[in-house]
Amino acid sequence: MSDNNPTTTSDVVERVRDRYASAATRAAGGETLIDPCATPVFGSQLYDGTEAMEALPIGAAQASLGCGNPLAVADLHEGDTVLDLGSGGGIDVLLSAKRVGPTGRAIGLDMTDEMLGLARRHAAEAGAANAEFLKGRIEDIPLPDASVDVVISNCVITLSTDKPRVFREIARVLKPGGHLGISDLIADSDATRTLDIDPTGCGTTAVTPDEYTAHLEAAGLVGITIKPTHQAGPGLTAVIVRAHRPEGA
Ligand SMILES: C[S@@+](CC[C@H](N)C(=O)[O-])C[C@H]1O[C@@H](n2cnc3c(N)ncnc32)[C@H](O)[C@@H]1O
Repeated sequence: MSDNNPTTTSDVVERVRDRYASAATRAAGGETLIDPCATPVFGSQLYDGTEAMEALPIGAAQASLGCGNPLAVADLHEGDTVLDLGSGGGIDVLLSAKRVGPTGRAIGLDMTDEMLGLARRHAAEAGAANAEFLKGRIEDIPLPDASVDVVISNCVITLSTDKPRVFREIARVLKPGGHLGISDLIADSDATRTLDIDPTGCGTTAVTPDEYTAHLEAAGLVGITIKPTHQAGPGLTAVIVRAHRPEGA
């Protein structure tokens, strides 16, 4: 945060946590979530036509708050360990769990207790024995070095006030040759770059594509592509980001 911005990093984290604790409580009561801050194009409609969605508990689709479908680009194989950063109600973890099968692991990481409770309920309803949910921050991933084949995330890294640290953590937990497939929001230009979540809970700490790329490169990730998918709000574009940790690194 800059000195002339009175909002502190911990204010932003608390605003994000409050926003998603309240969303999880509403979803647990059976509400289909709509994000008042986002465009109408978000959540489970971004998975339309995905066969595996039909087998998911309805609550997992109703709680979806993503801005894309990272599984459309994440190359998952039987037996893989997949990590979803900011797993929310668990939609991408449950879809991943099906793709990696009983010999694989699908791990969701989230900092909000209410979201973790909701996701665990959905995993139990789905009978997904290979899905698990950890409490923690994406800036400090509670997993060992080189323990994950694929990192996915859906509309979460944009909320982090310390993106360089998030990408360093991704590079640390990925196995050499492992890759990431991320849906996220980026700012269209410096003019729409934001560093705050406003007190109503809207806004994102979005950075430009150049900054996003620089953070990925600084973490040692390679093969970076950032592909726009749709306009997600004034000055904000939804993108699919791909990259990998080099073999032997
Ligand atoms: C926009 S929702 C997306 C949820 C889910 N990925 C989806 O597609 O439905 C953001 C989620 O990320 C979590 N989150 C936000 N910032 C986080 C952070 N720094 N560390 C861990 N979780 C975070 C929130 O608690 C919330 O569940």
